[in-house]
Amino acid sequence: MKIQKAVIPAAGLGTRFLPATKTIPKEMLPIVDKPILLYIVEEIVAAGITDIVLIQGRNKTVIEDFFDKSFELEYTLKDKREDLFRQIQDIREKVNLISIRQKEALGLGHAVLCAQPAIGDQPFAVLLGDEIMFRRDTWRPHGIGQLIEVAQKNSQSAVAVMEVAPSEVSKYGIVAVEETGRNLWKVTDVVEKPALNQAPSRLALPGRYVFDSKIFTYLKETKPGKNGEIQLTDAMAQLAKDPDKGMTATVLDTVRFDAGDKLGYLQANVELGMRHPEIGTAFREYLIKKLGDKP
Ligand code: G1P
Repeated sequence: MKIQKAVIPAAGLGTRFLPATKTIPKEMLPIVDKPILLYIVEEIVAAGITDIVLIQGRNKTVIEDFFDKSFELEYTLKDKREDLFRQIQDIREKVNLISIRQKEALGLGHAVLCAQPAIGDQPFAVLLGDEIMFRRDTWRPHGIGQLIEVAQKNSQSAVAVMEVAPSEVSKYGIVAVEETGRNLWKVTDVVEKPALNQAPSRLALPGRYVFDSKIFTYLKETKPGKNGEIQLTDAMAQLAKDPDKGMTATVLDTVRFDAGDKLGYLQANVELGMRHPEIGTAFREYLIKKLGDKP
């Protein structure tokens, strides 16, 4: 099972971040000095994948421009700021971006289905465009690589899960599972944002998936579900129940932020700001002083 392509659905309206997201996609909001999307791209590159299929809605040119050559900027930086020049050049050289437009915002399931022409019948990874994950030790983007290893070992689709508090259950896709090993579960069902009393577990989906291409067959059959949207989780439930396919769940060893949420976004900025090579020390000192002050 070789995974050569990763899909990033980035076509959401970003309503949780209005008015900032009126003209800028939420994936381009910065965490310290990098857009959220770049952390996700780095996570993909760390897993050895360079072909990235981006599903976009409005404001698409901003993202495409980010991964394209900026002649004026590179020309200006080349002799004066070699370090910044390298960084900018690196971004576009690292990845091969395939951009697909989702013409109507019909839901996450529909966005993933839009990737089919670029994926064909190969297994592929999906990373949601507003969830960012890091290794606990190095704080480098990390997650999908670990999930790909699980998918390869079990020769089937795999999905990341995380245990959430009861009050959080209705915000996520939730899996029903049977334990099969250490940090390994067989997925028996998937439910989108259930009420707590109807949730089959407290294991939620944090937005990292490895799918067999049969997910496309099920996505095509999926009718609008929760909130009138074509839900990825509905097709996942079919794939998990398919006797020839199946799905494994695992908890990734990562620190994860929902950067599409105001609180998660600020937490990510604080954590990465404290570890930033240029401003980390000064920022830590500021926080210590600030928190020591009376409110
Ligand atoms: C989406 C998915 C949900 C998943 C969540 C993770 O929901 O539909 O299954 O748990 O992302 O962030 P959204 O947050 O887009 O409403």
